[in-house]
Amino acid sequence: MNNDLVKDIRSKVDIVDIIGERIPLVARGKNLFGVCPFHDDSNPSMCVSREKQIYTCFSCHATGNVFTFLMNYEHIDFKTALKELGDKVGINTSSIKVEKKVTKYDKLYEAYNLSVKYFQNNLSSMIGKTAKEYLKNRGINEDIIKEFEIGLSLDKRDDLTKLLSSKSYDLATLNRIGLSSDDHDVYIDRIMFPLYDVSGQVVGFSGRIYKDIDMNKYLNTKETEIFKKGEMLYHYHIAREECRNKNYVIVMEGFMDVIRASTIGIRNTVALMGTALTEEQINLLKRLSNNIILCLDGDNPGVEATLKIGDHLIKNGIEPKVIPLPNPEDPDSFILKNGKDRFINLVENALNFSDFKINKLKEKVNFKSDEETSNYINSVIEETAKLNDEIRQEVILKRLAKEFDIGYNTLDMRLKALTSKKEVKVKKEIIVEKRKENHKDKYIKAMEQVLYFMFFNDFAITQVENEHLVFPTEAMRALSSEIIYYYKKYGSINVADFYTYIQDKENILTLYNEIISSDYVEKTTKEDLFLYFKVIREYGTKQEIKRLTNLMKNEVDPLEQAKIVERIRKLRIGE
Ligand code: CTP
Ligand code: MN
Repeated sequence: MNNDLVKDIRSKVDIVDIIGERIPLVARGKNLFGVCPFHDDSNPSMCVSREKQIYTCFSCHATGNVFTFLMNYEHIDFKTALKELGDKVGINTSSIKVEKKVTKYDKLYEAYNLSVKYFQNNLSSMIGKTAKEYLKNRGINEDIIKEFEIGLSLDKRDDLTKLLSSKSYDLATLNRIGLSSDDHDVYIDRIMFPLYDVSGQVVGFSGRIYKDIDMNKYLNTKETEIFKKGEMLYHYHIAREECRNKNYVIVMEGFMDVIRASTIGIRNTVALMGTALTEEQINLLKRLSNNIILCLDGDNPGVEATLKIGDHLIKNGIEPKVIPLPNPEDPDSFILKNGKDRFINLVENALNFSDFKINKLKEKVNFKSDEETSNYINSVIEETAKLNDEIRQEVILKRLAKEFDIGYNTLDMRLKALTSKKEVKVKKEIIVEKRKENHKDKYIKAMEQVLYFMFFNDFAITQVENEHLVFPTEAMRALSSEIIYYYKKYGSINVADFYTYIQDKENILTLYNEIISSDYVEKTTKEDLFLYFKVIREYGTKQEIKRLTNLMKNEVDPLEQAKIVERIRKLRIGE
């Protein structure tokens, strides 16, 4: 890896800008704070340091530099993060060689990649003629087949299983990852749609029937260690780039809808593949954009799902927009029937979720009944209270007041009563969440403090080396020797650049994150440093005494015992 270029890019971007573009940051002192996106939180426990160019979360201890932030936030690899930031500051990154991180899943991914190729081959061969016809009739052309890597499983019992077995995959593995069942294929004679994880790796399939047979329309890969339905959104890896330009994301129900939208050049879309939305998926959506447009099916289940998901998003602080499709169309059928322009028109005229919900509430009300009418008005105010936008609240209430000829103040009082309750609740939560206490004993604290000093005091590095200070744990020793090594190689050390250097060394990284996100002091003097050394050595002595005491307990020879006692005595008086 070309470290100079990497350092160059890192020093030319400001981590505050990069994080600030994605989550709101508030300045406090010389640092900035925001709600940490890496754990479930509503308090600003993530600190971004302009000076150090790192972020640290005091609650979940997520820390890192601008690269690690992008990688973790956007679910991209180092190379992509590098390219994205390089593009921003005008540095070409194509010459930078980054070794692909080896993971324990590589072999499984490879099985999926082979399967994709195999299914694609089937579809493009003579055997795939009927399936091609089906796709053509649905308006899926060659380009789309290629773009979405669509393929075909055969009407044979164990073709894929045999193929993968011949490539040294054992049946147990193939069963575990959902490609085989016992000794035969899972997918028989279906059009195969690869399913991608957030980084764009194929981790599963959805197989669709294409002949007139009485079978489940879709057959999906079972949940496996690499395929977790609740943690992915179909098309996320493509939408990620598209949403950056378009600044909004459209959520659809099925992957066929996403594929159809792609045929008319709309690619800032994701599919839920099932209508329940998990917390993890909400986090993913928020990463794409805060402007979320729900465009689910126009039938009743679709409307119900829209209401449910909208409420869920509002609880997470986002009011989505809604494209109501005529019943029973889905985006796929709507676009096929009405074409690109009419769909784009719908996107441009998407409703605010609360308006959509109010419309839906209204459909059920019998306005001849006073009770139902007042219930309706109350529900509208309740919906309005959930919004974090005073102007919108006023607009809705004014409309309501006019429509039912009720005093605006009456409605507003009711709203205020609801919103003030909400505020009290929020405040309570903040008080409960206090900073975690530091429970480490004084020895661990001293050791971590010395390691921390090494980043901000060059002489601390030299002293640790010259004094042969020995840390008691493997990770600490490894971290200190990496710091020394880095310092010698580059002549100086910087916490943000050091991240890039150790990002694949997991044993060190955990310790490093722990230290960086704790409250340690940066600067020290030589005198103070020695006091810390003393504490650390005292710990070494204590450990040694413990060891000798145990040794003595098991020693039967009185002469040997006496020797050990003498050694302990010497250690105690510090000889
Ligand atoms: N789905 C599924 N199993 C089914 C039906 C649906 O897994 N038996 C999932 C699929 O991921 C599908 C999504 O739910 O993409 C939406 O279902 P549906 O609206 O029925 O699919 P369509 O996109 O309309 O598919 P098609 O047009 O091919 O019928
Ligand atoms: Mn459909």
